[in-house]
Amino acid sequence: MDDTPRARPGALDAILADAAALGFAMSCEERTGSLLATLAASKPGGRFLELGTGVGAGAAWLLHGMTEDTSLTSVEADPAVQAVAAKHLAHDHRATFTTTNAWLTAYTGPPISLAYVDCRPGKIHRLADLIALLERGGLYIADDLLPQPTWPDDHQSRVDAFLAHLPEHPNLLYTPLRWASGLLIGTRV
Ligand SMILES: C[S@@+](CC[C@H](N)C(=O)[O-])C[C@H]1O[C@@H](n2cnc3c(N)ncnc32)[C@H](O)[C@@H]1O
Repeated sequence: MDDTPRARPGALDAILADAAALGFAMSCEERTGSLLATLAASKPGGRFLELGTGVGAGAAWLLHGMTEDTSLTSVEADPAVQAVAAKHLAHDHRATFTTTNAWLTAYTGPPISLAYVDCRPGKIHRLADLIALLERGGLYIADDLLPQPTWPDDHQSRVDAFLAHLPEHPNLLYTPLRWASGLLIGTRV
């Protein structure tokens, strides 16, 4: 079975070229991106969140799958990397790029339909707070749960703890996937 994605977002090559020039090596891999687009397409009219924009590869994939009436807020702590995402994707009326490292603390808006959580808050810590923001049936997606070359030395123990404590969240029906960079797909129940 060839699981190489066939269709790719138009902006992806330019984003990845800018990422290489910046030395940014944490963009999602293409199979993950394809899954993000597929899941995004399942929630027309939804309110989507990405925590950790990076340079915008994941956002490009989400936008690739999103209907015209779906919105994406993509949050990043580092303005320099997010500027690449904004350069390529901010013209899209469905996308909003927010620069902060405390989004989870500050958010008071309506429930979220799909959250792609790609930084520590909402994943390694404060998972319960993130799940509480999801609508009933809302999707939770996390990646990089298998060892990555970009991990700091002490990160495996954090991921191990994240996986070990998942059963303590009865409002998340989830499936870990030993595929791509190691994924968790969950549904708020
Ligand atoms: C793995 S990269 C994101 C890749 C991107 N989601 C993609 O799919 O291409 C993680 C990003 O999270 C950012 N980050 C770290 N802590 C954060 C925080 N508290 N809030 C938002 N972004 C954060 C990092 O600066 C980094 O760019």
